Amino acid sequence: MRLQLLLMLTFIAVPVAGDHPPLPTDYCHWSMHELAINEPLCNLEGDRANGLKLVIDTHGGNCLACHQMPIPEETLHGTVGPPLHGLAARMTEGQIRAHLVDQRRFNPNSVMPGFYHDPRLASRVADEYWGKTILTAQQVEDIVAYLKTLR
Ligand code: HEC
Repeated sequence: MRLQLLLMLTFIAVPVAGDHPPLPTDYCHWSMHELAINEPLCNLEGDRANGLKLVIDTHGGNCLACHQMPIPEETLHGTVGPPLHGLAARMTEGQIRAHLVDQRRFNPNSVMPGFYHDPRLASRVADEYWGKTILTAQQVEDIVAYLKTLR
């Protein structure tokens, strides 16, 4: 658990010198209005079951490294971020998507990476993520599909 968090922090904290990378050709452009992204990325439809897998997967969202979630079969839940129980009762789908895509719009110093942040704007990124988003647009939509069921 500690190790997972450490790995996560390592890949968001390694500085890389040089120019900005080009935007991936399949990047889905999004816009945030009043701290919400109301349109699904590339109009993709999310798969809730895959979203549940991704929030647990340490190579996917790895959300459990920092958040408690209503997934009792997983024993290790982080407490760096707020618990996500009942999330959809206090946020719209568009707000949930916005947090996932670009948490640093909400808190510039957040330890939570922008999972679909424009990679050209990344200032601290490990080689593995140079010029790429951490999650694909489909993975973001899958996780949104799962999170919006948390009432
Ligand atoms: C490295 C730790 C870390 C990881 C990994 C992480 N988060 Fe977060 N998250 C935070 C912190 C800390 C906050 C609180 C706000 C802040 O400081 O940015 C937060 C805030 C949030 C919020 C806003 C909650 C609220 O009540 O305002 C949502 C939604 C969220 N995270 C979802 C996720 C999801 C989904 C994942 C996985 C895809 C994830 N987070 C991965 C640390 C993390």
